Amino acid sequence: MDKHTAYQQATSEINAILEGESNMILKMSTINCILKQHLPYYFWVGFYCVNKGQLMVGPYQGTLGCLHIPFSKGVCGAAARTKKVQLVQNVHEFPGHIACDSRTNSEIVLPVLDNDGELIAVFDVDSTEIGSFDEVDQIYLEQILKRHFEESTLVKEYL
Ligand code: SME
Repeated sequence: MDKHTAYQQATSEINAILEGESNMILKMSTINCILKQHLPYYFWVGFYCVNKGQLMVGPYQGTLGCLHIPFSKGVCGAAARTKKVQLVQNVHEFPGHIACDSRTNSEIVLPVLDNDGELIAVFDVDSTEIGSFDEVDQIYLEQILKRHFEESTLVKEYL
């Protein structure tokens, strides 16, 4: 199955399941789960949430993620600082890359904004292959994040 078809199926499932939902953690957990089921090259998928001027690990699927990432470090930090998507074909060539799991070879990290345009998290997907991610991943992931965080009601409390 090609990437487009996999993302289209994942997107319609996510949209159907999250219809009428507003809780941030619920949305993050569901998006991780559905995407990982449809995209076989996803090795690690998850959110790092902005907390006290740093990134803190949030909902994810995969091997143990680093708990804290400063804005000054790694691909996630670069996405948080610039609010720009980071598409990294080979993480070993990215200065300051943080190896939470040494099997990761490529990744995409996208900024996650709320409806005030504030950065609330970054969304990180890692693959064990070199060059797994391209503009196709970027376009579908941007659409999902926009619809469920930037353009919808978001409740940030958990308890
Ligand atoms: N790849 C990230 C670190 C997070 S994990 O790989 C789960 C980075 O360099 O920012």
